Amino acid sequence: MTKFELIATAAMGLEAVVAKEVRDLGYECIVENGRVRFKGDEFAICKSNLWLRTADRVKIVVGEFKAKTFDELFEKTKALPWEKFLPENAEFPVSGKSVKSTLFSVSDCQAIVKKAIVNRLSTYYRRTSWFEENGPLFKIEVSILKDTAMLTIDTSGAGLHKRGYRAEQGEAPIKETLAAALVLLTNWSPDRPFVDPFCGSGTIPIEAALIGQNIAPGFNREFVSEGWNWISDKLWDEARNEAEDLANYDQEIDIIGSDIDHKMVNIAKANAFEAGLGELIQFKQMQVKDFTTTKEFGVIIGNPPYGERLGDKPMVEKMYTEMGQALSPYETWSVYMLTSNERFEECYGKPATKKRKLFNGFIQTNYYQYWGKRPPREIK
Ligand SMILES: C[S@@+](CC[C@H](N)C(=O)[O-])C[C@H]1O[C@@H](n2cnc3c(N)ncnc32)[C@H](O)[C@@H]1O
Repeated sequence: MTKFELIATAAMGLEAVVAKEVRDLGYECIVENGRVRFKGDEFAICKSNLWLRTADRVKIVVGEFKAKTFDELFEKTKALPWEKFLPENAEFPVSGKSVKSTLFSVSDCQAIVKKAIVNRLSTYYRRTSWFEENGPLFKIEVSILKDTAMLTIDTSGAGLHKRGYRAEQGEAPIKETLAAALVLLTNWSPDRPFVDPFCGSGTIPIEAALIGQNIAPGFNREFVSEGWNWISDKLWDEARNEAEDLANYDQEIDIIGSDIDHKMVNIAKANAFEAGLGELIQFKQMQVKDFTTTKEFGVIIGNPPYGERLGDKPMVEKMYTEMGQALSPYETWSVYMLTSNERFEECYGKPATKKRKLFNGFIQTNYYQYWGKRPPREIK
């Protein structure tokens, strides 16, 4: 097996959550802006794609070097061992980005990288004609930051948020990777009740159920690197079998998703069935102000409307107040809400135990956390 330099890319603010996941898979890692670096072999590529819940993609770093001129970019790209990755018929589109760098023309950088790789492969495969590029896909990226170029190959294909269960969605669905992070950032464990009172298409309850039963999020999808000749089908089978063995389908879980909109409730149910969790999660139509429970030590996670649309704010803020009133009797419950609304705590009626800045797409939000009393066995 070969040792690769790998990166798991992460949305801004989620790097530490991704790093914990990478470590839990057994890989030492380094946290950087927007990514987590780790070293691993072919099996690590299969495993990280199958298991990482909060990362966007897994990429191989082919090389990293200083490049201030196009000549430097060409020669240093050509010096990298591309033939180790790309077979003769590989399809290898090159995309790029450049930030605070001398080489700022992204289209020129892409063209030069492509030319350098073609040059290298032509020598290796003794080609005098064009490469047909009718084989497996290797998406290459040249990313230049402060004159340092990083050349990567994507191993994931569709972003890792595409789990394969979301057949339908509402107006503002949360990305599956962020939904998983919201769950992992709480103190929820599968023996505690879980409620999402703004469930929409059901993403947060579905991610919680996958976490609760230790089901690999990528179990029902394919990855672009499955088409590569140097990662055997046997290895992918091994990683999938391992995931199957680790899944704990017998774990009982108590997860409820509710929403004011009955159409969303039906969509959430359909998505949960698609994820194979249909029987496991209860969905119902309900307004948050009508929340009641006799259970204790539960966790509520929600991505409510933010009131960003013109005219929506007063209505949304009133709803936050009603939510605060409805949830205040439940001292043993912990409440976690993600919103961009700066007046959330004021409307909800009390300051959060902790806040964490997170991005929901391009919207800067706060994850407001109200910690409830700890379950008795946790008290030392
Ligand atoms: C931002 S969306 C949630 C998206 C969801 N996380 C998903 O992935 O699809 C907010 C949801 O809150 C629901 N909602 C709005 N007001 C509500 C209320 N007072 N009580 C309960 N649900 C409400 C909306 O119908 C909408 O589905």
